[in-house]
Amino acid sequence: MNAPEPPAALLEPHVMATYGRLPLALSHGRGCWVWDTEGRKYLDGLGGIAVNTLGHAHPKLVPALQDQIGKLIHSSNYYHVPLQEQLAARLCELSGLAKAFFCSTGLEANEAAIKIARKFGHDQGNTRPEIVVCEKAFHGRSIATLSATGNPKIQAGFGPLVEGFVRVPLNDVGALEEVARTHPNVTAVFLEVIQGEGGINPATVDYLRAARRMCDERGWLLMLDEVQCGMGRTGKWFAHQWAGIRPDVMPLAKGLGSGVPVGAVVCGPRAADVLGPGNHGTTFGGNPLAMRAGVETIRIMEEEGLLANAAEVGSALKSGLEQALAGVAGVVEIRGQGLMLGIELDRPCGVILSRAAEAGLMLSVTAERVIRLVPPLILTRDEAAQIVAILVPLVRSLLSEPRP
Ligand SMILES: Cc1ncc(COP(=O)(O)O)c(C=O)c1O
Repeated sequence: MNAPEPPAALLEPHVMATYGRLPLALSHGRGCWVWDTEGRKYLDGLGGIAVNTLGHAHPKLVPALQDQIGKLIHSSNYYHVPLQEQLAARLCELSGLAKAFFCSTGLEANEAAIKIARKFGHDQGNTRPEIVVCEKAFHGRSIATLSATGNPKIQAGFGPLVEGFVRVPLNDVGALEEVARTHPNVTAVFLEVIQGEGGINPATVDYLRAARRMCDERGWLLMLDEVQCGMGRTGKWFAHQWAGIRPDVMPLAKGLGSGVPVGAVVCGPRAADVLGPGNHGTTFGGNPLAMRAGVETIRIMEEEGLLANAAEVGSALKSGLEQALAGVAGVVEIRGQGLMLGIELDRPCGVILSRAAEAGLMLSVTAERVIRLVPPLILTRDEAAQIVAILVPLVRSLLSEPRP
């Protein structure tokens, strides 16, 4: 990103420079709109990177969280937290799975999944368990989850990586079968139903079903990372539900708390009791504020029909983009489902971030060439049309420029 030098008010000499930031700061939001500290208004096509399920300052979420903050923010996992059981029961009901463990972020949910897969192996006498992971996958930035991630740029400089991952291309059933023949220590297959950071790459229904079948035949765990694509974003509670399958292990985070940090790993019967007392834990995970945010997010999503909204508005947004960009040279593909969409271009397009912000639209770019839209699930058809109206001229103009 060619970000200009930020104004003095945005200099951050004491913050580690781990992010390439745009030169602006947001001050507040309402619905799918946010305002910066200079008073400029933006349409939010980013949703805090697939986090702000209910948009900003939702009139039902705000008083519920205020109520919880006034009662109890944090207690400790030394004691029972009744809201944990409430949220776990809801997640199990919606997924058909059996038990949940709570944490605070996506990488933590994936760490728990990796530990479950390893312990599952050890419990069967397999002391060198291996986990099958995908090329272009993104599972987080801790040492274990970046080892599972299929992006050499993210891994560079952090070796030695954690061993025990076997990498295959996504959507290649033959490659999974080959691993089954050559790697007797495999205990789990771990993949995103729609790769987010890897460029909005969906696993096909056939691939998901084949992976489920192979895991059943071989006694492996199917672990589906729904951190980005889960919680209603594709129009079903969980993206794998489009394939009519159930995973054994499902990490969640991002949209689960509508902006409050909440992570979970939800497990089916084969994995639900693998971790026992003393095997795993976290200080913040499952605290009353986070759990209330999860419970209220689900309740409000149901009350407002946000699954149907994500499906309908998502498909209107996708077809609006398809129509407006039809035949434009340099647009490789428009893909994704519900409100998780990517426009792949034939060239790097990071510059579109600042141009979109100047035009009043928040979005992101992944895998260098893919413009990603993951707005709040409350997006209206009219707002979707406004995204198309702002974005399409920017894409056309970028593609008319000489290649960098
Ligand atoms: C699929 C997936 N898994 C895991 C993560 C990591 O989540 P977090 O950034 O909350 O650690 C992400 C974040 O983008 C993700 O998209």
